[in-house]
Amino acid sequence: MSVSTFSRIQASDLTTDLDLSQAELRAVLDLAREVKSRPQDYRSALSGSYLSLLFEKPSLRTRLTFELAIKQLGGDCVVVNGPIAERESLADVARNLDRWTQGIVARTFRQETIEGLAHWSSVPVINALSDRYHPCQALADVLTLTEHLGSLEGKRIAFVGDGNNVAHSLMLCCVRLGAHFAIATPPGYEPAADIVAEAAELAAGERVGVTITHRPEEAVSDADAIYTDVWASMGQENEAATRRETFQPYQVNGTLMRAAKQGTLFMHCLPAKRGQEVTDEVADCETSVIFDQAENRLHAQKALLLMLIPARGEQ
Ligand code: CP
Ligand code: NVA
Repeated sequence: MSVSTFSRIQASDLTTDLDLSQAELRAVLDLAREVKSRPQDYRSALSGSYLSLLFEKPSLRTRLTFELAIKQLGGDCVVVNGPIAERESLADVARNLDRWTQGIVARTFRQETIEGLAHWSSVPVINALSDRYHPCQALADVLTLTEHLGSLEGKRIAFVGDGNNVAHSLMLCCVRLGAHFAIATPPGYEPAADIVAEAAELAAGERVGVTITHRPEEAVSDADAIYTDVWASMGQENEAATRRETFQPYQVNGTLMRAAKQGTLFMHCLPAKRGQEVTDEVADCETSVIFDQAENRLHAQKALLLMLIPARGEQ
């Protein structure tokens, strides 16, 4: 199979989940399944392509799965850790990187930094997590969900915890694949109102939408999967003690899992603070799919790269 046999994504970047249309979201998932089942067919698809990986925040999964994805597709990458635009302007950084590399993958604090890179560079920019979105995580998550649940049409996905970047992206993907998204957060930690409004409008299918509640039991009632994330995200370390107290009633433990459907999946983007947002009992239970999610980061990102980065022969 060659790169030209699947369609390219219309948007030139993945700055938010919504840069992918609903059809493109489904196409990325189809390609991810294909690449996962026949990785050898794609081993030179990015031959001769180099990417810049920029990390303002720590990473295990994102950094390694992007490096591996690029290398397993025949390309290579260079990595920079630390502030992206400290010594010079973001515009100048972007206009250096696009002279050397065919794409930029960036993990940032501010969403505006991702958007600035996309604005100023002439090569595709991929959001590898900002304070507002984590679209690559959501791709792996919905891929994992479809592997375990089949179609997401009519399914109920519950998120318990912080209405932050991971919840935002998951919500935007789940509702467009026909699932209902129910989220329980402490008061004051709800997802951003504009993202909820967008998700509600984009919800594909009858009886599908978004439920926002402060009651974990309400969110997980009849849920096919329960998802959580750390209570204090990267950059919020100084709030960790307060958040630990506030979020305690939102811990995903055996009691909460039993309030959902029999066999409900447990999901977490990782890294987990075991004993805080999730107990060991749940993280390691039979229906926990946390390591499937981690594995699928690799396959989903391969598909994304194939559909975003032009093959060298096309340039
Ligand atoms: N889930 C995730 O993005 O993990 P890292 O922070 O290790 O990249
Ligand atoms: N919400 C977490 C996700 C880590 C993958 C954070 O931003 O730190």
